[in-house]
Amino acid sequence: MIAREACGSCHLIPGIEGADGMAGPSLAHFASRQMIVGVLANSPGNLEHYLKSPASIVTTNAMPDQHLTDEQARNIAAYLYTLR
Ligand code: HEC
Repeated sequence: MIAREACGSCHLIPGIEGADGMAGPSLAHFASRQMIVGVLANSPGNLEHYLKSPASIVTTNAMPDQHLTDEQARNIAAYLYTLR
């Protein structure tokens, strides 16, 4: 899922083969973070919202809107919260 959506071309994501991108921040230990992009509290609802529409949170965001469905956003969020 995360592999297919090319997140790994910009992010380092532990456990995803080939996900070693450096354009965006590392997503290691994501579940231990307090904030998402420094502005949102790190909660599942906020993360899903951010993943579906990055530019609605940070207008200068270099992370593209990848037109994720609700289900994709939920699944990706669930995976990121396994990264402690
Ligand atoms: C073209 C590069 C690119 C792609 C593709 C991309 N991102 Fe990002 N992502 C970024 C950048 C750059 C930021 C930092 C944005 C900021 O700080 O304003 C970011 C931020 C994030 C954050 C917040 C990180 C933090 O430290 O709070 C998460 C979570 C995230 N991305 C997940 C994903 C997921 C999941 C995908 C695939 C669906 C994805 N990204 C695809 C570039 C990308």
